[in-house]
Amino acid sequence: MKALLELSNVGMKFDTPKGQFEALKDVNLKIDSGEFVSLIGHSGCGKSTVLNIVAGLLQATDGGVILDKHEVTEPGPERAVVFQNHSLLPWLTAFENVELAVKQVFKKTKSKAEIRDWVEHNLELVHMAHAMHKKPDEISGGMKQRVGIARA
Ligand SMILES: Nc1ncnc2c1ncn2[C@@H]1O[C@H](COP(=O)(O)OP(=O)(O)O)[C@@H](O)[C@H]1O
Ligand SMILES: [Mg+2]
Repeated sequence: MKALLELSNVGMKFDTPKGQFEALKDVNLKIDSGEFVSLIGHSGCGKSTVLNIVAGLLQATDGGVILDKHEVTEPGPERAVVFQNHSLLPWLTAFENVELAVKQVFKKTKSKAEIRDWVEHNLELVHMAHAMHKKPDEISGGMKQRVGIARA
């Protein structure tokens, strides 16, 4: 069986004021449908760079990523990210932060009521129903992370 996700000889060279910095070289990885995989390594070894490339937020400078027979060239709703620094918009409530992402993906296929129900359901799953109308600076770090998980 062909892997669902395949990274082939992925390389990443960043341009920096001191010249090129090679963060990744020949990263090869196959993940099958249903597999749960953790990338483990010391700080700065390139984990986030790999994930950002899979997410389509960064373009590899060498090699490529194939997901379900298609090359990854940009972000897509089938590859959600929970960011290390939560990345919530501070002027929106928890509900509105999740709603923004849900609308981005489902605006054309779900009604307003369905979108609201879906946002609430996912906030309930991470036990954030009681605080969903609070803004990021009114909730704890762990709560912010849970909102990021609901959004993903
Ligand atoms: N935009 C960038 N420009 C230059 N160097 C970068 C950039 N992003 C990451 N790096 C470097 O690439 C290496 C891998 O970073 P990263 O993937 O964030 O590591 P990890 O997530 O494993 O801690 C580090 O040495 C980091 O300094
Ligand atoms: Mg990292």
